[in-house]
Amino acid sequence: MCKFLAEQIFKPGSFPEYTYVSRESLDIGVNYEVRLKQALKISGCLTSIIGPSKMGKTVLCEKVIDLENLVEVSGVDFKLNDDFWTVIGTKAGLPMSGEFIEGKTVKDNTSDDLYYKKDKFVLTKDRVIDYFKENGKVLVLDDFHYAPEDIQLHIAQQLKDAIRKEFKAIVVSLPHRADDAIRKNADLTGRLSLINIENWKNDELEQIAKRGFEKLDINIDDELVKNIAIESLTSPQLMQYICLSICTLLDTDNSKITQIPEEVLKRAYKFTTVNFEYSDVLNTLLLGPNPRGNKRKIYITKSGKELDIYGLIVEAVSINPPSMGFDIEEMKCRIDNLIVNDSKPDKQQIRESLNKLQSIIDEKENIYKVFEWKDGKLYILDPLFLFYLRWGNHK
Ligand SMILES: Nc1ncnc2c1ncn2[C@@H]1O[C@H](COP(=O)(O)OP(=O)(O)OP(=O)(O)O)[C@@H](O)[C@H]1O
Ligand SMILES: [Mg+2]
Repeated sequence: MCKFLAEQIFKPGSFPEYTYVSRESLDIGVNYEVRLKQALKISGCLTSIIGPSKMGKTVLCEKVIDLENLVEVSGVDFKLNDDFWTVIGTKAGLPMSGEFIEGKTVKDNTSDDLYYKKDKFVLTKDRVIDYFKENGKVLVLDDFHYAPEDIQLHIAQQLKDAIRKEFKAIVVSLPHRADDAIRKNADLTGRLSLINIENWKNDELEQIAKRGFEKLDINIDDELVKNIAIESLTSPQLMQYICLSICTLLDTDNSKITQIPEEVLKRAYKFTTVNFEYSDVLNTLLLGPNPRGNKRKIYITKSGKELDIYGLIVEAVSINPPSMGFDIEEMKCRIDNLIVNDSKPDKQQIRESLNKLQSIIDEKENIYKVFEWKDGKLYILDPLFLFYLRWGNHK
């Protein structure tokens, strides 16, 4: 029997053939694959998939659509003044312009008696649409939020027209970022199939580890699987990463390991963080806004750290139990529990500091958008960042 390598089983960066987990969408209790298949069958409709980063949007499209029919284009591929159809056509492998020959093929040295007709063409919208229809191709416009805003609207218009002609397309984007051009576009009302990808639940994450280790012929106790799922912070990608780290640390490819030992877990969590580079993000948060010469109050924590309010907020987010969202009550409670001395920051102070951190993040690039403080709640947007806070070597 051919033994699998760990890297073939756990795939944090690409399509996980052996550890693919099918999930039910919460709203109607049908799995996502069926929903997407169904959506693609409704001719004249555009499919919009929205979901948080790294929750399996691209993997879902790759699962449902055969590789040879899938034409993937990313929002970053579109620059101002690019013609939408030229970009799509080129990605699909169509020549931009040229000659095509109709009739019999030209054979060696015998072309005299053969009839053929040469035609010139340039890549046009109609030609691209026909090519997609004739060959059963589906356009997946991934990371749509990365396309510049005015281009998003232009694309939406082009797609609106194309889907009437039975062109099949899926637009994939992050929540709140790009839904205006598609989901709130009046022109597309009634012409959309909407799929919202939810965060992963722990029992769904657990299946990744269970399937993978079974395939590798290695036992792992349910308790350990549960623990890894909790630390994966709703992210299937983290689950894949951690399982692969465990295999690397135990050298499962070359050793005869039959059981995963508990002691490897913490080492694997720490080892996994070496792939994540968030030190600039963390330092920016810890620094907070410019203090303009004022000294900030320092609090002593139970673990002996000296932290200002921004340090306390970061610490409160990182401690147990791991959570992807906190309301102000919970933040206050976590911060209070950290501090030794009597004087503790009040809720108003915590709120104001979170407001300031949010404005700092708003001005920065995407990698800094690790959380969102909105309507009195702090949402962790990037599970990898929280994982880095919990296990990274930055303390
Ligand atoms: N159904 C699944 N079963 C098992 N693992 C999965 C599944 N979906 C996603 N993953 C894991 O998560 C990783 C990230 O998935 P994917 O790239 O599809 O996320 P995404 O939502 O498209 O992210 P982004 O917003 O960055 O484009 C995959 O490479 C895979 O390791
Ligand atoms: Mg993706």
